[in-house]
Amino acid sequence: MSDIEKMEQRLQTCYDELKWLYCELYHNDMHAFEYFIEMLRRSYRERRPSLRALDEKRLVEPGWYYSNKLLGMMLYVDAFAGTLKGVQENLPYLQECGVNYLHLMPLLKTVRERSDGGYAVADFRTVQPELGTMEDLEELAEVCHKKGISLCLDFVMNHTSEDHPWAKAARAGDPVARSRYFFFDDWEIPNLYEQTVPQVFPTTAPGNFTYLDDCGKIVMTFFYPYQWDLNYANPMVLNDMTENLLFLANRGMDVIRLDAIPYIWKQLGTDCRNLPQVHTLARILNLACAIVCPSVLLLGEVVMEPQKVAPYFGTPEKPECHMLYNVTTMCTTWHTLATRDVRLLRRQLEQVFALPGNPLFQNYLRCHDDIGWGLDFPWISQFGNLEVPHKRYLNDWFTGRWPGSLSRGELYNDDPRLGDARLCGTTASLCGLEAAEGGEVEKALQCDCMLHALLLTLSGLPVLYSGDEIGQLNDYSYHDDPEKREDSRYLHRGRFRWDLAALRLDEKTVQGRLFQALRHLEILRAEHEAFRADASASIFDTGSEKILGIHRQFGEEWFTALFNFSEEKWTIENPAAGAFDLLTGKRVLRKTLVLGGYGFFWLAKKIGSRNEQ
Ligand code: GLC
Repeated sequence: MSDIEKMEQRLQTCYDELKWLYCELYHNDMHAFEYFIEMLRRSYRERRPSLRALDEKRLVEPGWYYSNKLLGMMLYVDAFAGTLKGVQENLPYLQECGVNYLHLMPLLKTVRERSDGGYAVADFRTVQPELGTMEDLEELAEVCHKKGISLCLDFVMNHTSEDHPWAKAARAGDPVARSRYFFFDDWEIPNLYEQTVPQVFPTTAPGNFTYLDDCGKIVMTFFYPYQWDLNYANPMVLNDMTENLLFLANRGMDVIRLDAIPYIWKQLGTDCRNLPQVHTLARILNLACAIVCPSVLLLGEVVMEPQKVAPYFGTPEKPECHMLYNVTTMCTTWHTLATRDVRLLRRQLEQVFALPGNPLFQNYLRCHDDIGWGLDFPWISQFGNLEVPHKRYLNDWFTGRWPGSLSRGELYNDDPRLGDARLCGTTASLCGLEAAEGGEVEKALQCDCMLHALLLTLSGLPVLYSGDEIGQLNDYSYHDDPEKREDSRYLHRGRFRWDLAALRLDEKTVQGRLFQALRHLEILRAEHEAFRADASASIFDTGSEKILGIHRQFGEEWFTALFNFSEEKWTIENPAAGAFDLLTGKRVLRKTLVLGGYGFFWLAKKIGSRNEQ
């Protein structure tokens, strides 16, 4: 069967569902639907043979992404290596870091002064000239594939930049272009929306609408005023944006990150987040990829409260996103560090581990965005942690205002009305490495390692934030940059410190110690299938509220991890006597274990083998 026939077969398999979903959303607009189907065919015709071959390969090994050998990193092309060519030249460094999944932060055309770090796209098919060209991106993808590295790229689908040709035409009065956005003649309807729609950036970009002086119209802008929300109720928007997505997939991307997906459907009278139509759209995109580029995964950026996240996986029969950010675990981990109380993390992980169907999470400690405190507040209120004061405590702790805290973060979008500030800072600075002196350095390093060990223990794909492997600290230079100064997320988006990375093999340096310690953990992870994303995982009670315990099992391999979230030493009962300490390679027969401040254990044994107790 030819490639085209195979694609046609996939199309036939999905056709009825696709038509049903599309017609439901767009009131039986068959003309638009037929355009959509032809667009899928066209996109497949443009797909290179090598990518079609990759499709076939992954179709027969579904679940390749569950491997314990996968390790991710996210980075900004300019901060890391200046250009795409620079990234290509520095792939050996990334390989030395063990990275085989690389998330390149937004790199498409944008206007610098109004770019939101690249999340305001002016052209979905052109690379920002300072970073390189589309050919450079394709070449990078090819070289990466040869080295076994997968690439992830953002697809900013909720909005375009006001510099996108559609936006320019809309501003100039073109009615067709205007129908792609939300344009209003007066404030009546925008004011109604404002009654129910919360604000994404209450301080840095207040309000959800922007008045356009030159044409006297009002346009919907949930994020920054220069990011105009697309109107997905117009089928032309879905058709063209899906074609843009497939264009990027056809450049050799393995994972497409669906930026801000919960926001893409708007309805007056609602909060305009996570509406049912968003799930229909996510399912349509999943089907489009399953037909045109079945090797490609969709990563949903769903930074929402816990119960809103998992529905974006869809169901096993009708999947939506293949992978989601484990945002609740991320912020709960930081909460746990500041409270030295693992109860909430325990409960949260129990819920994650209990999700059916092996959903794939992207685990992370830090990313390019702020940390929002999306904790299970109703649950922790039983311990007296009420939402507003607790957020204030966490922010005080992580900005170093709380007595005894060595953390050095900055607030983000502090909204004094709601007491709802979020937080920025690099992992190392939040762990205390920036402020540490003398013996405190040891403590901060241990804390940083322990959090990374937990990251590598969770179920899913661990993604490091570039620079964290060498303990990179906050970069305050954004304070002097008028284009960035208002946005404290730039605190942790500094230039990659190659001078410090050069010390990574010198174990007398902080960088060397951290780099080597993390490599050791990553290598162990890659060697043990108990770390596979589809291994079974559970939480157990260690007898201490300071110490988190995780069991994992895959086949005959049994693994136990312990993490001490406090600065003090604790002695607990050994939950896995007779197992091997993976870090030292020695068998641990003792009935008790001593965990130093921020200490952790990785213990493994094979069930049924001689080393079982
Ligand atoms: C996502 C990005 C964030 C950006 C926003 C608007 O949340 O992660 O950095 O500001 O979308 O596109």
